[in-house]
Amino acid sequence: MAVNLKRSSGGDSDKGKTSRRRMLGWLTGAGLVGSAGLSAVSNFVFIRPRATYGQPQRFSVGKPEDYPSGTRAVLASRGICIIREGARLAAISTTCTHLGCTVGAADTGFACPCHGSRFDQDGNVTGGPAPRPLPWFQVTLAPNGEIEVDKDIEITPGSYLTL
Ligand code: FES
Repeated sequence: MAVNLKRSSGGDSDKGKTSRRRMLGWLTGAGLVGSAGLSAVSNFVFIRPRATYGQPQRFSVGKPEDYPSGTRAVLASRGICIIREGARLAAISTTCTHLGCTVGAADTGFACPCHGSRFDQDGNVTGGPAPRPLPWFQVTLAPNGEIEVDKDIEITPGSYLTL
């Protein structure tokens, strides 16, 4: 019985195997590192909060002296109208209670350009399809002397801040 104990003496075929093995190892490593990187990025994107909270509902609108008596100042970017009568101050919403258009100041109070709702000086409905008066928001004087409006807190219409 003859046993073939022929061994490779090394050479080109071993070098080829080694270099192929190295190449496969390198590709596997690169694939693992790449997929781990992609996984980390996608997890970060998934975990990061995407909520936007919009404008703060409590904000400063300046000092009382910015609003002399008789002022009816519409702050369009804030959606409110600041009213000053003597030492009394209030903030009325300028968002129409019908479908949310922005009302403008009119001689008789407020007028909505969308469907014609009209409101008196205190925001009460005087005409048109608006179902409710314009809300009044809480107004306070901050320790630094600035007027703060909180649109999260509606107050009874006619409740002024007395300066
Ligand atoms: S949104 Fe103002 S009347 Fe319709």
